[in-house]
Amino acid sequence: MRMHALGARSPLLTAQRAADIQPFEVMEVLSRAHALEAQGRHVIHMEIGEPDFTAPEPVVEAGVQALRDGRTAYTPALGLPALREAIAEHYARCYGIKLSASRVAVTAGASGALLLLLALHVNPGDEILVPDPGYPGYRQFVRAFEGAPRAIAVGAESGFQPTLEAVQHAWGEHTLGLLLGSPSNPSGTILPAGELERIAGFVAQRDRLLIVDEIYQGLVYGQAPSTALGLPGNVALVNSFSKYFCMTGWRLGWAVLPEASVRTFEKLAQHLFICAPAAAQYAALAAFRPETIDILEARRREFERRRDFIVPALARAGLTVPVRPNGAFYVYADCSGFRLDSKRFALELLEREGVAATPGADFGANETGRYLRFAYTRGLGDLQEAARRIARFCEALA
Ligand SMILES: Cc1ncc(COP(=O)(O)O)c(C=O)c1O
Repeated sequence: MRMHALGARSPLLTAQRAADIQPFEVMEVLSRAHALEAQGRHVIHMEIGEPDFTAPEPVVEAGVQALRDGRTAYTPALGLPALREAIAEHYARCYGIKLSASRVAVTAGASGALLLLLALHVNPGDEILVPDPGYPGYRQFVRAFEGAPRAIAVGAESGFQPTLEAVQHAWGEHTLGLLLGSPSNPSGTILPAGELERIAGFVAQRDRLLIVDEIYQGLVYGQAPSTALGLPGNVALVNSFSKYFCMTGWRLGWAVLPEASVRTFEKLAQHLFICAPAAAQYAALAAFRPETIDILEARRREFERRRDFIVPALARAGLTVPVRPNGAFYVYADCSGFRLDSKRFALELLEREGVAATPGADFGANETGRYLRFAYTRGLGDLQEAARRIARFCEALA
């Protein structure tokens, strides 16, 4: 093993990989929002990437019952067998794809799944291609395992999603694989099935790795939800109970792995997590019941109504939404028609009008100074008020 000289270490002995981790820009917006609220100002939070709905009632009931029954001990590292079965059946029911429960690993959120997958695959120096703009965690997770995240610039012309050509162009001799999200955070766009197939084929031909983050699966509008399950090659899926199932703080997600990877993933999970939260797993057994899905589908339709309101409202205010989002709960809007870069725009919008949004810089470096992400994780009444305030702000800038 290569040893590093210790002489140059900082007084806190911080490892370089930790020192390299970037903070969230949005935290500046958030802490200013909290300060304004402490002064009595009313802030409409559109920076937050989590549903405003709580966990559905049948899930809460199942969780409470599990706690009462004392089901709080460790579970198997890959999750409760019944939950792994329920997840596998969900793919059969929704996508008509037969999946063996042995390939499902229950994790502490999509974050836990990403962490374990990257621990499983990344050697120091391995390059992982990630979309820019894209979910910030992708870059930081890769870096945390001494890998090298390599950005693929994705713009409005390709719906903020990678194309096969872009992947081919970015692919290099140290490239281990590609990590992408669909529907995407921050743009809410979906990678068309045909393009995903072509990309998967290209990665499979090279015997490399494709990780598809499907955390916003189910939150899609005007089209049927889709999955990368069944694509050829070494494909791992990441998913979560956080978004569609409205269970962010329960810290529960899953990965679908190639059969051959399961055992190594399990060993890592045993040591790094022991297991995902037990009570959350028992609660999630109720997540796929028809009465729960009815609740979640009603919420999905509510998100769709909000999207249908906010996208044209932002455009009327003078922001450009170059690609209409058809998934997740985000709008990625271009503010370059005004004099401010998106970070200043976000801070001033908050200061003057009390609307919080996320500056594009959190999602990468590719033209992100022009973009802001607005989350429609507020009720329609709040969104209508936010739209009035944004319009007034833009008018004052013009
Ligand atoms: C694209 C994407 N992936 C993964 C995560 C992590 O989610 P969790 O760990 O709550 O499942 C998030 C959270 O916002 C996300 O937006």
